[in-house]
Amino acid sequence: MVILDGKKISDEIRSEIRDEVVRFKLRSGFSPVLAAVIVGNDPASKIYVGNKEKGCREVGIESRVVQLKESTTTQELLRAVDRLNNDSSVHGILVQRPLPNNCNENLILDAVNPFKDVDAFHPENVGLISQGRPRFIPCTPYGIQELLLRNGIETEGKKVVIVGRSNIVGKPMGLMLLQQSRGGNATVMITHSRTKNLAEITRQADILIVAVGAANFVTADMVGRGTVVVDVGINRLPDGKLCGDVDFDKVKEIAAAITPVPGGVGPLTVTMLLRNTLTAAELAVAG
Ligand SMILES: NC(=O)c1ccc[n+]([C@@H]2O[C@H](COP(=O)([O-])OP(=O)(O)OC[C@H]3O[C@@H](n4cnc5c(N)ncnc54)[C@H](OP(=O)(O)O)[C@@H]3O)[C@@H](O)[C@H]2O)c1
Repeated sequence: MVILDGKKISDEIRSEIRDEVVRFKLRSGFSPVLAAVIVGNDPASKIYVGNKEKGCREVGIESRVVQLKESTTTQELLRAVDRLNNDSSVHGILVQRPLPNNCNENLILDAVNPFKDVDAFHPENVGLISQGRPRFIPCTPYGIQELLLRNGIETEGKKVVIVGRSNIVGKPMGLMLLQQSRGGNATVMITHSRTKNLAEITRQADILIVAVGAANFVTADMVGRGTVVVDVGINRLPDGKLCGDVDFDKVKEIAAAITPVPGGVGPLTVTMLLRNTLTAAELAVAG
């Protein structure tokens, strides 16, 4: 059984991005810039944005944070996004979720310039992914694809079962695995809370990707012998420890390979955001 070490792959990709950023700066004369918009004081959001700033520093990307107060209205937030859209020194924009209830999330995410949409949430970018000509790829599925590729795990012809159909993980992951390209060509089934006989389906998977958000949701009886298991979930237990959506200790006895939590998919998500920011800066230079 192989433990799929996301930290190691993440370090490898960051080192590649760092080298590419140096070359980009020499060519263009400026740094790639990522701007994060954060509304309110959600402690988890502050940690996420802090991790993104740290990641930027590590690879030579400049980061800026636009901090707005909790009571910010949709219109005020739209104006802040618009300022960043029109600022040619900013290449990537991310709006940290969750937004306060008084903000219309879809309106805000749709307002981000699709060429600066490094989270790949804009409908134009989702459409391009579904047509197999991506501009940006959502960071978590992108990280999972790299994790599989760089561990030599073939997806072509494989039966991949995804548990969870969110717009940020399950759905884009399914679309990417369907593409006629490297890291694609899989036969994909996306399951969700209305799926019947879930265990029967998950047991048939060659590769099982779980993004539910429920601690130890996938138990050993739901996994076939020799499966590659990717656990996207991040759950905090009452004792403060983090755990995934998969019962790691039991499932690792059956799986061919498995991601740990923490240290699996998590480290790759921020890294692929850095990759998308560099892509955005390159697109800006290309005009
Ligand atoms: N590692 C990372 O970087 C990273 C990134 C993103 C998310 N995450 C973590 O991944 C987890 C999922 O996040 P998300 O945003 O994708 O989730 P989400 O938007 O909460 O969606 C959860 C999905 O799980 C499905 N589900 C819930 N109960 C189920 C059940 N009993 N059987 C089958 N499916 C069920 C839901 O089905 P319905 O659609 O029918 O409700 C939904 O599609 C969370 O723990 C999150 O913190 C980690």
